[in-house]
Amino acid sequence: MSTTPMPSHAGAAELRKSAQDHLWLHFTQMADFNERPLPVIVSGDGCHLTDVEGRRYLDGLAGLFAVQIGYSHGAEIGEAAAAQMRELPFYTNWNYAHPRAIELAEKVASLAPENLNRVFFTSGGAESVESAWKIARQYHALRGERRWKAIGRDVAYHGTTMGALSITGVESIRSPFEPLVPQVGHVRNTDRFHRPEGETEEQFTALLLEDMEHRILSEGPETIAMVILEPVQNSGGAFTPPKGYFQGVRALCDEYGILLCADEVICGFGRLGNWFGSEKYDIQPDLLTSAKGLSSAYASIGALLISDKVAEPFMEADVMFKHGITFGGHPVQAAIALKNIEIMERLDVVGHVHREQDQFRKTLEPLLDIPIVGDLRGTGFFYALELVKDKDTKQGFSGEEGKDLLQNFLSDRLFDAGLICRADDRGEPVIQVSPPLVADQAIFDEMTGILGEVLTEATERVHSSTSSTAGHDVRAGTVSALG
Ligand SMILES: Cc1ncc(COP(=O)(O)O)c(C=O)c1O
Repeated sequence: MSTTPMPSHAGAAELRKSAQDHLWLHFTQMADFNERPLPVIVSGDGCHLTDVEGRRYLDGLAGLFAVQIGYSHGAEIGEAAAAQMRELPFYTNWNYAHPRAIELAEKVASLAPENLNRVFFTSGGAESVESAWKIARQYHALRGERRWKAIGRDVAYHGTTMGALSITGVESIRSPFEPLVPQVGHVRNTDRFHRPEGETEEQFTALLLEDMEHRILSEGPETIAMVILEPVQNSGGAFTPPKGYFQGVRALCDEYGILLCADEVICGFGRLGNWFGSEKYDIQPDLLTSAKGLSSAYASIGALLISDKVAEPFMEADVMFKHGITFGGHPVQAAIALKNIEIMERLDVVGHVHREQDQFRKTLEPLLDIPIVGDLRGTGFFYALELVKDKDTKQGFSGEEGKDLLQNFLSDRLFDAGLICRADDRGEPVIQVSPPLVADQAIFDEMTGILGEVLTEATERVHSSTSSTAGHDVRAGTVSALG
């Protein structure tokens, strides 16, 4: 157990009642908590969290892909925040600068890929994406072109504000809010698991680039402001790029005068074993969006990194980027982000991920022996396990079956077994694992042990519900409901 003194708070029942009366959780079916207790997390240390009843959980998701340094640095980061509070609790970046924003911008630019030398601060990932799309539009306008469209990828998630949601390619979260910002094109993502047997990596890359070029041409290249892609796409389950993909995308963007934005809200700040995924895959973006890991989520701060090429027309006399956010570059949040980066450098967190990533993968690999685990993919400390009904044919679960497996069984069962990770059905059903970047072999083993146990139970559940369905063969895909 943690040696940290437990914070004082109301009892579990009181907290739950108050939460149900007043606190609206994000992306959460609130009525579920009429049936089961709402989880209330009260403290954290290392890679673990503790709930209001004192039960401990391994945080296999690092908050939401965000808490790079784990949960034990609150005191040191709190000192930095308190010192900044005493010096200057707030001032804005509208027309004024202050030391922490200046220092953080310089630090981030020094870590970023070459040519990304300017930093526009935001309050989070979606605001960074909004800012990227707006700066791309205004960049083209300043150069005498009217380009407004964006191109994203199928099933990719980029945030929930209207612009970011329009770029997001997840139908189920878009549809309640349509019409969205018009004219975003979606192209194929880099999911290779369901491609035909025998297709080479080069053929797959060629197919993806053909699809993107076709989309660019059908939209009209002269109307497209930006292509936005994650180095490794999270939604759908850690889709890594095939060889040559990003070089091909860069070439297409150059050919048609389109800006390339790397959305590194998850991939940035060490998740893939480099400071930025753009460095790992040599993406050479014109714009780069980040948030989460910039402060290890100890503060709500994000950033848009801007290349010299994009900045140039904005540095002319009488020109400004017509966009601003009150809290962008907030001095206390900047002080927290600076301290986070200092800790990451002191602990060599990025080097640790780089060195341990193969070992992380090796520890997860035996899970592929479980019948419903079809694929393990990812890189760095960023992995997904795709669940299938039949491993030989790669036949997946139907929408209802996948939903039932994830929502009615795996999410709760993993949590009860002491592991927080994500059972995600935005694409094919996947389990996403993405621990704090300070995780070591003991954490990899603990995580894999729980996953092994619960996924084995899940397999039994699938098979028993299959055999109880009038003897239908799972392979024939005739099971319409599980459990
Ligand atoms: C790739 C990507 N972009 C943007 C966002 C939006 O970030 P936020 O939730 O901070 O607005 C997310 C959030 O998960 C993300 O994963």
